Amino acid sequence: MDRHPEWLHDAYRKSIRKIGAVSKKIGAGFPHVCLNGDYNCEDASFWTSGFWGGLLWLAFRETKEESLRELAEQIEQQLNVPLHDFYDIHHDVGFMYLPTAVANYRRTGNEASRRSGLIAASHLAGRFNLKGQFIRAWTDRVDPNSTGWAIIDCLMNLPLLFWAAQEDRDPRFRHIAVAHADTVLKHFVREDWTVPHIVSFDPETGEKIENLGGQGLGPDSAWSRGQAWAIYGFAIAARETGKREYATAAKNIANYFLSHLPEDRVPYWDFRTADKDKFVRDSTASACTASGLLELSALLDDETEQAFYDECALDILKGLYDNYADFSDRQDAILTKGTVSYPVNKHVNVPIIYGDYYFVEALAKLHGHPGLF
Ligand code: GLY
Repeated sequence: MDRHPEWLHDAYRKSIRKIGAVSKKIGAGFPHVCLNGDYNCEDASFWTSGFWGGLLWLAFRETKEESLRELAEQIEQQLNVPLHDFYDIHHDVGFMYLPTAVANYRRTGNEASRRSGLIAASHLAGRFNLKGQFIRAWTDRVDPNSTGWAIIDCLMNLPLLFWAAQEDRDPRFRHIAVAHADTVLKHFVREDWTVPHIVSFDPETGEKIENLGGQGLGPDSAWSRGQAWAIYGFAIAARETGKREYATAAKNIANYFLSHLPEDRVPYWDFRTADKDKFVRDSTASACTASGLLELSALLDDETEQAFYDECALDILKGLYDNYADFSDRQDAILTKGTVSYPVNKHVNVPIIYGDYYFVEALAKLHGHPGLF
């Protein structure tokens, strides 16, 4: 496949233009889901609060439009509030601070941004359960039963620890990231290369108790966004450590994902859903997987394998471009039909900010710009 077909340029150009246009409306807010065309905004402490800032940095990198950078910096200022409040902070500091404070520091060397990134990494490291060798998810405020819970999504927070280890020349951050990733390999990844959303451990002894369905269909199911987090998360862990086991996991989980995709390249909310619920799709899982596959292909030595995962990433992006992208001003978001949580009927088949983020991040990678994770 042509690596730079016209549709790819068109998708990137229109996405960057749309971010600029929508920035006039959203400003330095924290958009989450787009309902009836308008993004609704959350608090700065919500786990998705880094994605709009990330989109602004991606667009600024391309356009050099100062107003985009200024908004991204205003977002970063607001993100310092939950960071210092402490009680509202949680495991998702990688999603929040990598595309904002760390992105800023990497671009400009800003000392205050570096400090925010390191504080966020210290929070994340502080959530490590030594007995169970995992990073604890959520807080008692969200769920008082979650003391022993680890979730697949958290693989995507590990790049913050890898960054801090390098930045602070302190390997303990990396040791924690590797220990958590090893626990995910051991206790989440099944023989058929699928993963559950949540694994519950005894927080005192560290023994595994059980798998939990979480935002997926059930303990034995394959929640599509969870598979996407695993593909991208293991690819980054392989990139940062050189461990072959992580690349093998990323490849095989990707193979499961790719071989179960419907024709239009957007999965059902859970790969094991009943036929009656197959109308529920999750475009965010496709966008995240496409960006993760580009990360994965860059790690591989075998040119045939590399070409395969590159082509799959392009194929998914084309599916999104053809069937799920809306570049008009009818809605603030770019992608349609993401799903937050079907089991609790929360935001089903609606545009979601992280779908847009990973879509544009993948397009940017294909235009020569690395991702922010
Ligand atoms: N990290 C939460 C989700 O993927 O919905």
